[in-house]
Amino acid sequence: MVQNLFWTDGLVTQEEREQHLKQKGVTIWLTGLSASGKSTIARTLERKLFDLGWLTFVLDGDNIRRGLNSNLGFSPEDRSENIRRIAELANLFSMAGIINVVAFISPYRRERNLARQLAGNGNFVEVYVNCPLEVCIQRDPKDLYKRALRGEIKNFTGIDAPYEAPEQPDLVIKTDIESAGECVNNILRYLREKQFIK
Ligand code: ADX
Repeated sequence: MVQNLFWTDGLVTQEEREQHLKQKGVTIWLTGLSASGKSTIARTLERKLFDLGWLTFVLDGDNIRRGLNSNLGFSPEDRSENIRRIAELANLFSMAGIINVVAFISPYRRERNLARQLAGNGNFVEVYVNCPLEVCIQRDPKDLYKRALRGEIKNFTGIDAPYEAPEQPDLVIKTDIESAGECVNNILRYLREKQFIK
């Protein structure tokens, strides 16, 4: 598909942008089941990072699927394409020097690994938002599990579509045990330890 196209570097380097913003672009990739708490964690993390003075932005499944990815459904092919586009978008945000927080189920290991490769190993943090399926089913804020269990929604992750848990995530947060604030503090601690932020 990609023919006769050439990447052209701009006249402003990523390093210059990062010096200007006094921060380093990084992708914080949250993966987990629907209702595991990804969006809540992403929004709380964005608020905290912003309040600490960092430029940050959330890419969230439910939002992006209403716009950029509105032509995609939930077949395996469409989910792969959904994540491929987000990986590309996150990479561009990262190159722009932004700390971007990505919150998609992103059920397939392969696509998450592709996102990591694209980002370059040094500026990608995979966070497994780990919450037992039973707890997600109990929470069910959008009544989607109920409908999936009744057979009204097909290919629902965790019910009749797979979720491949990360094997070596950079960080695991457990939203059934810890509060959103505690989970976000764990992520912030990790980002400081790895010197993504001061
Ligand atoms: S992903 O699998 O392609 O990464 P994504 O994070 O973009 O999924 O979208 C998940 C959201 O779409 C869920 O939080 C839920 O609100 C909604 N949704 C609608 N249908 C499904 C489905 N079949 N499986 C999972 N989520 C679905």
